[in-house]
Amino acid sequence: MSVEATAPGKMILFGEHSVVYRGPAVVLAINRRARVVAERREDRKIFIDADDLGFSGYFLDDAYYPVRGKAWRGRNLASLSIAAKRTMEHLGVDVGVNLVVRSMIPIAAGLGSSAAVCVATAAAVGELFDGNLSREDISKFAYEGEKVIHGTPSGVDNNVSAFGGLLKYERGSGIERLNLEACPTFVVGNTRRKRSTRMMVESVRALRERNPEMVDEIIDSMANVSREGLSALQGGELKRLGDLMNINHGLLSALGVSTLKLEALVHAARKEGALGAKLTGAGGGGCMIALVEEERASRVEKAIRRKRGDSMKVTLTGEGVKTRRLTGAGP
Ligand code: PMV
Repeated sequence: MSVEATAPGKMILFGEHSVVYRGPAVVLAINRRARVVAERREDRKIFIDADDLGFSGYFLDDAYYPVRGKAWRGRNLASLSIAAKRTMEHLGVDVGVNLVVRSMIPIAAGLGSSAAVCVATAAAVGELFDGNLSREDISKFAYEGEKVIHGTPSGVDNNVSAFGGLLKYERGSGIERLNLEACPTFVVGNTRRKRSTRMMVESVRALRERNPEMVDEIIDSMANVSREGLSALQGGELKRLGDLMNINHGLLSALGVSTLKLEALVHAARKEGALGAKLTGAGGGGCMIALVEEERASRVEKAIRRKRGDSMKVTLTGEGVKTRRLTGAGP
């Protein structure tokens, strides 16, 4: 018997970088999912097949043994191994597992792919051993995995992936799940340039140290935009939402986290009639998002491709992590 779990990626609509200091971040689960199939092994290996990324290997007593690809790839897979291990420890199970990982979420692009695969891993392993895990549990074990890659992340990514939907996060007050009656359409443009969130956060910190008052004013504005943006989203005021996305992008540029390629995609989307466009996530590469009317979506997607970005249409998903038992042929 094997178990399949899928979990969604995310996009930050407002509040990246400012949330590190103050004000809310507004985050949506998107209808692009990661999939993990788990199967029991009788030895104690945690075998991970990530062949669509070009590598696979196994962990045994925390050491990584590559089967395909270089040994350093163990760093990419360690989070999954930890998420699986913590889940099994919680359930008092001491065997191994095979994990087959596939994802529709671009990696290292700010779309929450690492959290989604960790969430799907914890859920699949939990279900495999009849763990009856709550979404809180799944999110918690996934977070243990996330910490291996990101240090101490805010926890937004694993929460939004486990629960789905719309979420607000603010330092101090934590995570709040919110309702959204209808979600507009967004187009995501991927610059195909990977970047490190940690380095981008560090560059903003350094800029703030050199220019404390100036940068604090920008951060305050961003916090306001984020609050206003959430109300525009919930009120279905698309024109205002688009304006606020444009303003937010300008403020992120002022913090130095935009790039020439991100600007090219943002401007291409606006030129084709997007109501608003901004970078999403840490910047320095990764993705931008454009708010579009449905009938404009394919034109905006094409404009992004002409600028050599990858593009895809996304919307909110209310569907968090889900599992399914597979019988017969296996993964
Ligand atoms: O690109 P991502 O999804 O890693 O977004 C990072 C968001 C930041 O605000 C830049 C960092 C953070 O920890 O909140």
